[in-house]
Amino acid sequence: MHKLTQKEVFKDLNLEKIDFYLLNTVDSTNTFAKKKLLEKDYLVVIAEEQTAGRGRQGKQWYSPDAGNIYMSIKLRSNDYAPLSLIVGLLISEAMDSVSGQKINVGLKWPNDLLIDNKKICGILIESEVNEGNVDFIIGIGINYFLPKKESWWGEINDLADILPREKLINAILKRITKYLENGYESWKVAWEKRCVHMGKEIKVISNNQNDYEIGVFTGINEKGKMMLKTKNELKIISSGECSIKGIY
Ligand code: BTN
Repeated sequence: MHKLTQKEVFKDLNLEKIDFYLLNTVDSTNTFAKKKLLEKDYLVVIAEEQTAGRGRQGKQWYSPDAGNIYMSIKLRSNDYAPLSLIVGLLISEAMDSVSGQKINVGLKWPNDLLIDNKKICGILIESEVNEGNVDFIIGIGINYFLPKKESWWGEINDLADILPREKLINAILKRITKYLENGYESWKVAWEKRCVHMGKEIKVISNNQNDYEIGVFTGINEKGKMMLKTKNELKIISSGECSIKGIY
């Protein structure tokens, strides 16, 4: 398998602003990034394999050495609000631009990426306060090939010719750094356009998995929170997982 190289991954990126680690194996790129001090604008950690990959809500993220993407980007920002949703949008746009728009990537709130209704990318954003500043760690996992998988997990190995791993990572890094430097005016409209469950009935499960709400997803607000029309009211929901009939 072709290993990732610095030259390809960081092509046309300003390395004066980026500290990076390209690793063969690590427990979790997010955990590794958390332990490192942010001495430049960005710290990027990429590994071929994770032995303790972490997903949202305390779940594991299966991370075999099989040509997948396991990457974390640490950065300082004063605004978490839409970051979690925008990152998913930026990755789907990076996939379009690298592949020449030959694929159709959907978004599922808050930040799963889907192809043919299967999850091909997951995002875990963590934060920590350092001397009054908030450092965010954006963890991105993209599945090209999984030797074993659940029914709702997707893979993009058959797109590897039009979506080479190193080009995709490069495009993601460019979009995320550009977003942090310039913002993204119309992100909400762009996010909703890609959402696979706009106007659909969904089930929203709380973070502790104990409660749920059923309603129609009517969109997101400026902070990336979900608007859910239940039988009795319009609810604004900021955390949890959602599931959609026929998807997952
Ligand atoms: C999810 O549950 O959907 C989020 C999955 C995030 C996985 C990525 S892989 C790179 C980074 N390191 C981790 O341990 N997790 C994230």
